[in-house]
Parts: sequence; structure tokens; C-alpha cells
Amino acid sequence: MTMELVAWDDKMSVGVDVLDEDHRRLLDMFNSLLENGVAKRNREALSALLADLRDYTDVHFSREEAFMQRNGYPDLDSHRAAHRYFVDEVEKLRHDFDGGNETMLRIDLILLLKDWLIEHIQSTDMQYKPYVLG
Ligand SMILES: [Fe+2]
Repeated sequence: MTMELVAWDDKMSVGVDVLDEDHRRLLDMFNSLLENGVAKRNREALSALLADLRDYTDVHFSREEAFMQRNGYPDLDSHRAAHRYFVDEVEKLRHDFDGGNETMLRIDLILLLKDWLIEHIQSTDMQYKPYVLG
């Protein structure tokens, strides 16, 4: 599988420093997963990364939703539903992890982060930018 690291770029800024910082940290998680390689056998590190991802997205999504709410963002419900989808997908991967194939799990996780999370930051999150900028 070939996939490139995703570098932070000013075009990804949603105009709110604390949310940009969250997004950078999530990108770091994705990049470190790629850098560690899909076949490397380190179950504990992968398990820790999944736990970090769950905990951090929990904090980040709550923060972002509160921001949208305070600023009267009209599509909050669908944005919230998108976040719940991601949380559920991460939970499924965590659930499958114990008996599962580690390499497969890593590939699934990389694809989820690439197809959903990075896409989400670059498009769905951009939609609230005009609102939070005032
Ligand atoms: Fe979001």
C-alpha cells in the first residue's frame, strides 16, 4: 500500500486556533501510523494509538460541536452525525482488535483516517469556517 504523509497546510485552517491545533494533532496520529508501516508487529503501540484516537476525537469533536453551536452553525445536526459515524467506526476497529489480524486492522485504520478524517477536516469542517469567523 502506498500512501503519502499529509502535511499541515494553511488551507486546512478553520480559522480557530484551538481547533486547528486539534486537527494538526490528528494529522500527526495519521502520519505516525503511516511512518510505522503497515506490517510492523507492535500490538501494544497500535492498541495505544486506537485508545488515543478515541479519547482525542472525543475531546475534539465535543469542542468543535460546542463552537458550532455557539456560533449558530445551521448544519450542526448533520455535522454531529458525521462525528458519531467516525466514533462508531473507531469503536468497531477497537472491538475487532483483540482477535483480529493486526496488519489488516492497521490498513483499515489508515484508510479510515485518510478517507474519513482527513477528508472531513478538508471539506466538512471548512463549511463552518464562515460562521466561526463571524
Ligand atoms: Fe468536524
